[in-house]
Amino acid sequence: RRCILIGAPVQEGAGRPGCDMGPSALRAAGLREALRELGFEVEDRGNVTPPPPPPITHPNPAVKQLPEVAAWTRALAEAAFEASGAGFPIFLGGDHSLSAGTVAGVARHMAQEGRGLFVLWLDAHADFHTLETTTSGNLHGTPLACLTGQPGFTPFMPELAARVRPENVCMLGLRSVDPAERIALNEAGVTVCDMRAVDEEGLAPLLRAFLKRVAAADGVLHVSLDVDFLDPDIAPGVGTTVPGGATLREAHLAMEILHDSGLVRSLDLVELNPFLDERGRTAHLLVDLAASLMGRRIFDRQTRSFLQ
Ligand code: ARG
Ligand code: MN
Ligand code: MN
Ligand code: MN
Repeated sequence: RRCILIGAPVQEGAGRPGCDMGPSALRAAGLREALRELGFEVEDRGNVTPPPPPPITHPNPAVKQLPEVAAWTRALAEAAFEASGAGFPIFLGGDHSLSAGTVAGVARHMAQEGRGLFVLWLDAHADFHTLETTTSGNLHGTPLACLTGQPGFTPFMPELAARVRPENVCMLGLRSVDPAERIALNEAGVTVCDMRAVDEEGLAPLLRAFLKRVAAADGVLHVSLDVDFLDPDIAPGVGTTVPGGATLREAHLAMEILHDSGLVRSLDLVELNPFLDERGRTAHLLVDLAASLMGRRIFDRQTRSFLQ
C-alpha cells in the first residue's frame, strides 16, 4: 500500500503557460495528506527534470516545442517504469503530453509482469493527432496517438518500449474531436464513450462494460484524468475548457467504480493550470477525486455499514 507521487511540470505541450505550476498546486491542495488518511505510505519523489532537448525539427511547421516534449517523454517513461515496480504511481501534471511518457513507462513494467495495460482516457478531447495532422501544433493534442503507435512519431519521439493496443483504450467524456482525429479514430479500434453516450446510457454502465473487458483479459488499468473531462463550472482551472462535461457526481462515481474494480495501477492528473484556477478549487477537486479513486468512502454498500 505505497503511493508514489511524481511531479511532471510539463507545459511545453499546451497552448498557454501555467501547467508547470500544477504539481505544486496539487501538493498544496493536500494530496499527500489525503492519501495518508486512506492508509497509504506516501513517497513524494519530487519533480522530474528533463534532459537537454534533442536537436530535432519536424516538417509540419505548426508543431511546437517538439524537442522539449521529446525530452520530457524520455525522462517520464523512465521515472514511470521505475515507480510502477515500487508502488502505485500518481503523476502530477503538467499538460497531457506527459502521458506519452508515463503510460509508456507503466506499460513497459506491466509487459515484464506479463500483464496487458489498458488505458482509460478521461477527457473532453481525443488527443489523437499525429505530428502530421495537428493544426494547433500543441503537442498535448497528440499523446494517445503516440502511445497507440499511430504513424509518424518515430524517429521524432523516443522509441516507446511497450505500446498500448488501441483496442485496450477507452475514451470517456469526449465532446471535442478535430476532423483529422475523427478519420484516424474511425480506423483505430479505440472504444469511444462520448458525452451523448454518458447522457443516454449513464456513466456507470459504460465504465463497467470496459472494466469487464480489462478483467476478462487479466489486464491492469492506467487512468489518465484530464481536468477538462470535468464541466468548466466545477473545474475552471484548465486552458482548454469545453462546456458540457462530467458533473461532480459523475466524476466521483467513476472514481468509486474504478476503485471497486481493483484493476487500477497508476494515475495521471493532468492539465491543471493554477494560473487559471479560482482559489484552488480545481486543485482541491482533483485531490478529492484522486482520494475517491484510492478508496475514500463513508458507507460500504456490501455490508451496509459505515466505514471507520
Ligand atoms: N484537439 C485540440 C488540439 O489539438 C485540443 C487538444 C486539447 N488537448 C488537451 N490535452 N487539453 O489543439
Ligand atoms: Mn509490479
Ligand atoms: Mn487531454
Ligand atoms: Mn482535454
